[in-house]
Amino acid sequence: MENEIKRRDFIGVTSGWLHMLRGWIDARVPMSKFWNGQVAQYDAPKNLNFWYFFGSIGLLILVNQVVTGILHTMNYQPSATKAFASVQYIMRDVE
Ligand code: HEM
Repeated sequence: MENEIKRRDFIGVTSGWLHMLRGWIDARVPMSKFWNGQVAQYDAPKNLNFWYFFGSIGLLILVNQVVTGILHTMNYQPSATKAFASVQYIMRDVE
């Protein structure tokens, strides 16, 4: 059919030892079923595009700022006299 969506299998292998290995694993843990159901063949909106990544990227950056900010408050001293020493301390002694 012309409109049929082409879908790739999990690890696009259809024969050989890798295919058999996948079958062996799938018989025990349904890895391919999970991958296809949750990722590869999961229906996404038709208008989904590159720009929709920016919300998640923004969230990732925000979380990173919060986490590294907390780490800074633990050891960094933002004053003219103590800043350099505290950076040296962070570089050398913080574990
Ligand atoms: C801390 C700031 C923010 C974070 C972490 C954030 C995160 C997200 C995420 C993860 C999504 C879903 C994925 C996407 O569409 O990218 C989203 C969607 C959206 N966000 Fe934000 N957002 C933030 C601020 C804002 C602001 C300030 C506005 C507008 C003034 C806004 C407007 C929207 C809209 C309209 C959508 C829906 C887009 C659509 O599905 O068509 N967001 N946001």
